[in-house]
Amino acid sequence: MDTVTTVSGGSGLVSGPTRLLIDGQWVNAASGKTFETRNPATGEILADVAEGDAEDVNRAVAAARRAFKGSWSRVKPNERQMILLRLADLVERHFDDLALLDTLDMGAPLSRTRAGRQRVLGMLRYYAGMATALHGETIENSLPGDIFSYTLKEPVGVVGAIIPWNGPLSASVWKIGPALATGCTVILKPAEEAPLTPLRLGELCLEAGVPPGVVNIVPGFGETAGAALAAHPDVDKVAFTGSHVTGQKIVQASAGNLKRVSLELGGKSPDIVFADADLEAAVPGAGMAVFANSGQICSAGTRLFVEQKIYDEFTDRVAKYGSNLRVGDGRDPDVQVGPLVSAEQLERVTGYLAIGKQEGARPLAGGTRLIDGKLAQGYFVPPTVFAGVRDDMRIAQEEIFGPVISAIPFTDIEEVIERGNATTFGLGSGVWTKDVSKAHKLAKAIRAGSVWVNCYQAMDPAVPFGGYKMSGYGRESGLQHLEEYLNVKAVWIRTA
Ligand code: NAI
Ligand code: MG
Repeated sequence: MDTVTTVSGGSGLVSGPTRLLIDGQWVNAASGKTFETRNPATGEILADVAEGDAEDVNRAVAAARRAFKGSWSRVKPNERQMILLRLADLVERHFDDLALLDTLDMGAPLSRTRAGRQRVLGMLRYYAGMATALHGETIENSLPGDIFSYTLKEPVGVVGAIIPWNGPLSASVWKIGPALATGCTVILKPAEEAPLTPLRLGELCLEAGVPPGVVNIVPGFGETAGAALAAHPDVDKVAFTGSHVTGQKIVQASAGNLKRVSLELGGKSPDIVFADADLEAAVPGAGMAVFANSGQICSAGTRLFVEQKIYDEFTDRVAKYGSNLRVGDGRDPDVQVGPLVSAEQLERVTGYLAIGKQEGARPLAGGTRLIDGKLAQGYFVPPTVFAGVRDDMRIAQEEIFGPVISAIPFTDIEEVIERGNATTFGLGSGVWTKDVSKAHKLAKAIRAGSVWVNCYQAMDPAVPFGGYKMSGYGRESGLQHLEEYLNVKAVWIRTA
């Protein structure tokens, strides 16, 4: 196996490592095994990637522990800051290649992956800033005599980070960034569908001066590499992003050493459109709340609640908007909607299209896989809008993870609060109205980690993101994100 793969990206060649990054070295899997990663737009094999499993995870955890106990623990906050700033500069310099690698490996169009620039660089520079801003507190206690108390914030230790494939670059930065800022060490397990960008980011980490063992990257499958990391007795914390089903397995696996866990899971987010909304903004807003990244976004606004008196007009307009989006190979800069990530996801999403029709929902747009010409080689599903959806239908309850809107009518605000919250998930939500009192009322009443009013999917490194209910716990971005990677120690000193 080559250490580096070079893949043709349409707009040029892009290359990156394909082996495991352990203790600062690129190594083969102990088993010698590899797996293929493919371009979902064409089905072509992009690279053979080393397939890490439990033995490799053991080696990576040992390296991460050595680094954590050793020299990394003496690296000052301002040095960690400089490493993060250098990493940000390198990511900036190579951003177009990283965006192209994401496009090739998981299918999101260049129009989307390139637009992630500000977000990814903003995250790295935010964590860099935070590296020197972390601190404990002195706390007045009420004990008799002279006894002084204060807190220390200490890195939690060795972190296992398990990420999905729907945004490989940003998901990697969202785990490596806080780990480096707080002084943790990390073993990143990319998704088997899209390991190339995380590995290239690992290469940039080394170039930025991240010491050996501080960032390790072990691609491999969930049931082997992922499960080994989640269960490992010498891992102090697991940061997981992915499905709620796997999240439940992670929690169970964590019980052995009661490691800390943070979970960023899926959703079935309500997006609520009132008749008084600015429909010019709400139509594309509600459309892209689901069609962006082909619906492969955890907080996609897939339950579209539309006030009855505009239901027909609005759903027709969203359907037209979706039908006019350009679907195709994401290397074409004009493409707005790329393929689904894999044959497995294609099967899952087309399965839900069939279920929706059986349940009696009516597709106003899309509804069947695209197989014209070259599209047949990839995993393309067009923007789909189902009308006539009832709350109890599976397409209104289950996470589809495809470009599929389930449009549901409602008549009044109390009712839509009740029905919007009637889900096991609680990640995102949207409200479209010009009435500020309705906006505030819903912002309070919706049980979800984010409420977007007259916008959708706004994200910023300083603003926390995460779930209620089965969408998980813990927050990413913002001050609370750093706390997830820190322990608080109370120190008592009798001074007399
Ligand atoms: P997944 O949750 O199984 O995979 C996410 C990550 O977890 C991958 O790195 C995978 O290798 C790892 N993993 C899988 N099983 C594991 C285990 N037993 N222990 C430790 N790690 C494990 O999601 P998958 O299979 O890629 O997609 C299935 C469905 O999950 C999607 O259709 C979608 O509904 C949902 N999903 C939601 C995501 C979100 O951001 N909310 C992201 C990815 C998937
Ligand atoms: Mg899986």
